[in-house]
Amino acid sequence: MHIIYQDETKIFHLYNDNVSYIMKVLPNGHLGQLYFGRRINADKDYSYLLEMMSRPMASYLLDDEKLFSLEHIRQEYGVYGTTDFRRPAVEILQENGSRISDFRFQDYSIAYGKPELEGLPATYTETPEEAVTLIVRLKDLVSDIRLELLYTVFETGAIARSAKFINEGKEAVHLLTAMSLCLDLPDSGYDWVQFSGAWSRERHVKIRRLEQGIQAVESMRGHSSHEHNPFLVLKRPSADEFQGETIGFSLVYSGNFLAQAQVDTQDTTRILLGINPSCFDWKLETGESFQTPEAVMVYSLEGMNGMSRIFHKLYGKRLARGYWRDKARPILINNWEATYFDFTKERLLEIAKKAKECGVELFVLDDGWFGQRSHERAGLGDWVANPERLPDGIKGLAEKIEGLGMQFGLWFEPEMVNKDSDLYREHPDWIIETPGRHSSHGRFQYVLDFSRKEVVDRIYGMMEKILEGAKVSYVKWDMNRSITECYSASLPSDRQGEVFHRYILGVYDLYSRLTAKFPKVLFESCASGGGRFDPGMLYYAPQGWASDDTDAAERLKIQYGTSFCYPISSIGSHVSVVPNHQVYRNTPLHTRANVAFFGTFGYELDLNKLTGEEQEQVKEQIRFMKEYREVLQFGNFYRLCSPFEGNVAAWISVNEEQTVAVAGWYRILSGANMPYTRIKLQGLKEEYRYKIEGRDGYYFGDELMNVGLITTDYTSGEGAVSEGYAGDFDSRIFVLTAVKETQ
Ligand code: DGJ
Repeated sequence: MHIIYQDETKIFHLYNDNVSYIMKVLPNGHLGQLYFGRRINADKDYSYLLEMMSRPMASYLLDDEKLFSLEHIRQEYGVYGTTDFRRPAVEILQENGSRISDFRFQDYSIAYGKPELEGLPATYTETPEEAVTLIVRLKDLVSDIRLELLYTVFETGAIARSAKFINEGKEAVHLLTAMSLCLDLPDSGYDWVQFSGAWSRERHVKIRRLEQGIQAVESMRGHSSHEHNPFLVLKRPSADEFQGETIGFSLVYSGNFLAQAQVDTQDTTRILLGINPSCFDWKLETGESFQTPEAVMVYSLEGMNGMSRIFHKLYGKRLARGYWRDKARPILINNWEATYFDFTKERLLEIAKKAKECGVELFVLDDGWFGQRSHERAGLGDWVANPERLPDGIKGLAEKIEGLGMQFGLWFEPEMVNKDSDLYREHPDWIIETPGRHSSHGRFQYVLDFSRKEVVDRIYGMMEKILEGAKVSYVKWDMNRSITECYSASLPSDRQGEVFHRYILGVYDLYSRLTAKFPKVLFESCASGGGRFDPGMLYYAPQGWASDDTDAAERLKIQYGTSFCYPISSIGSHVSVVPNHQVYRNTPLHTRANVAFFGTFGYELDLNKLTGEEQEQVKEQIRFMKEYREVLQFGNFYRLCSPFEGNVAAWISVNEEQTVAVAGWYRILSGANMPYTRIKLQGLKEEYRYKIEGRDGYYFGDELMNVGLITTDYTSGEGAVSEGYAGDFDSRIFVLTAVKETQ
């Protein structure tokens, strides 16, 4: 991995073994994009790739020629209004009302490693050799705004980008658009893949062809949202999971975002990714700077799986941090779906005891333990244990749980307040609301103004007290509503466009302080399930509750979609009761576990209510997870068969040494007299012989990857029922182990 600059041609070439990213300082001093794709020779002048051409209706920048139009030149950080009419990467409102800017190349620096982005989550290096960073400095000579474009090439091939603005002028300006990434591609022959849905059906895979015009996903909810994920893939229509050109774009951010592709008149494609310019207006005073969040691009010729594996490595190892990053995650039980708000200390202990008996390692007390929180209308904001429910406080309960031989975890929703709470009564002015306007609620709760330091300080104080006062090993950080009537009482009128971003900076600040003070506590992020499942959260919380939907069939889609960007170790997944509380569906217990194994794994029910036989099954599931969680959570993960395309889904995790693999196979509906089916596995060593648990003989790696593994040999005919297999929603786990002497 290298970055070189050729002075004569003014060309930057960023590359590693697989990828080249080439830019050039243009005749007007802007930075232009020449090439992003498979690695090509660095020793060459690629200036001819500048598409200079005279075209009807084009406007030209340079006097005395009709060739250089920014509309038709691919740029690194496009500006609007000076011959380019596409959506820009930057828009700055200046004192005289102008929005024109003209960033010209000044100088650059290249250094191994990667600088931190102050106050923002970002990928990082542990040793300087893992990455190399280029900073290109440009300046708008009229406003005296300096722009620094940061590019980090990781050994893995991922490229991280961000932009920083520094006001060196004499006047304040307003940043109205400040994208993290702008990439102009030379054609539009791509499929656009987005990960969208709603509460309880997050990150469904949706694919369509790019067309002239704008296609975009975004959030204007104050959190990255259930609706769209800040992640986007462009792939060649012929590319599939295992081959073909695929580019992933991911934003390390948890607030309002925009991910957009614009196909122009000549079929070139501009990708923009960053803070959503809608509702954004950041005042930059003289001497101040603004750092955008980071965007990460991954280029793969090995299709979507190839791209995902690069994201998994980068996000699992160089975005997630801390004590838990590389550790197998504890198997937990959470009381939410078992009790909702209706619990006593005794009831919790009953649940915990049975869980311990089955092998569970961590008991998590969810919503309802604090203030007057016995229903959703009260208590949020009062982070002190309710003495009626927990007479010995959190400390007493945590000790009891510890006494049973389990760790103890606790739920918080730090950003919210109910009007019926002591905090609100003391500080009614601390919520986000617009003066003179009605304040809307979500779940009868209001959003605390986390753009204000005193608010974050107060919540930190309460949480610190709880976490210091009891042995809490895990925190579930929830967030259950979007922001409306966005306005901060602490900011002047010309800074109200900063509130959404300042809010999320406040969230990051609280996370930073808590994770620094309690480095061994395992944080799990949550926002009504998957409403803030994004890379920004992963920096602070190595796992996230992927969805409130715990139905196994629904979860297949959610976890499958989530896996395109996020590592399996980050995907919170639990077994719950049937009929399922979200979709009222009955799925067999083994399938519920077989889906949840490909995640952090836990239970969200009262195990006392299962039959003795089911409890034995749970014990076996937990034993299995303990044995294989390293490979399941940290192995190389391959999607094999998509639940979005048919009746069957499949995936496999393979350890680094390729000696142990766990495959999951799932069939949604049963059928009569069904054919034998096979899945072609991935990630195995061709020449290794593998034993498959429960099957005789052995299979070569190449055999399993080319001929495939027969999956349905037990599903029909006499005996199927007596073997205990379900009809609909059946599934199977295959454990493959390489036979020693053949390695
Ligand atoms: C929404 C979360 O996603 C659930 O798991 C649960 O914690 C509830 N909130 C509690 O109010």
